[in-house]
Amino acid sequence: MANSNSKIIDGKLISSQIIEEIKTELKTLAVKPGLALILAGNNPASEIYVRNKEKKCKELGYYSIVERLDKAISEAQLLDLIDKLNKDSKIHGILVQFPLPKHISEMNVLEAVDYRKDVDGFHPINSGRLVIGEKCFLPCTPAGIHELLKRRKVQTSGKNVVVLGRSNIVGKPIAGILMQKNKNANATVTICHSATENISDYTKRADIIIAAIGKANFLKGDMVKNGVVIVDVGINRIEDKASEKGYKIVGDIDFDECYPKASLITPVPGGVGPMTIAMLMKNTLDSAAKKIYN
Ligand code: GUN
Repeated sequence: MANSNSKIIDGKLISSQIIEEIKTELKTLAVKPGLALILAGNNPASEIYVRNKEKKCKELGYYSIVERLDKAISEAQLLDLIDKLNKDSKIHGILVQFPLPKHISEMNVLEAVDYRKDVDGFHPINSGRLVIGEKCFLPCTPAGIHELLKRRKVQTSGKNVVVLGRSNIVGKPIAGILMQKNKNANATVTICHSATENISDYTKRADIIIAAIGKANFLKGDMVKNGVVIVDVGINRIEDKASEKGYKIVGDIDFDECYPKASLITPVPGGVGPMTIAMLMKNTLDSAAKKIYN
């Protein structure tokens, strides 16, 4: 299995294995997967995410289109575009990059995307189906976390999982995935959040911790038990005078403190991050192959 003699869960390696598996599957697929990426406005982080997704589509030979829209676009115009893409048979996946300009309702946009093309897994039909354990598109970051755990053969059945953070993008869906009754899940899941008192009481009992709260170096060594598996979803920029750029990227885990106690741990960068795009490509492939919905 992937990199199985190291304590580090190597997301770069595992994501590249998934990309290779996709390339193999593509050879047997009669249809070319098509992904539409919609970017409204000029959020610098979103620009980078969309460019990286577009690059990966090109690498795999997917049909991809990128709709770059002015930040002043009206909600009605955006909904019209989504409607057009819903009807386009060359398009199997539609991704609207968030955040959207403030005058546009993200919920209206999510609901406008045909749930059968919702490769981001954010449509309420997909999130509802996830909770009740029905086949659906899984959001890409939680799906990537689950792949990391499976491929490093982490037992989840009967284990205590603590999720730090209750976002719709990561915290809630990963909790939903890991509480299902199947052999790759079946965990006892606790979600801690900003109103949780004495978080250490939970994290110290956890066999697996998934941190997605957006607080740099939040989880300290004395908050975890020996042998814990830690997945760090955080991407936080902190000042670093020693670096040329003046900053560095760190996760939600104090890596140096937690590493000695962990049996497995994801680094930042190079852990969960690279998995997200790989799972987006996988969802798009599955959509083209009609594996989720007919
Ligand atoms: N913004 C931050 N993360 C995501 C994501 O996973 N999907 C989309 N569409 N927008 C995001």
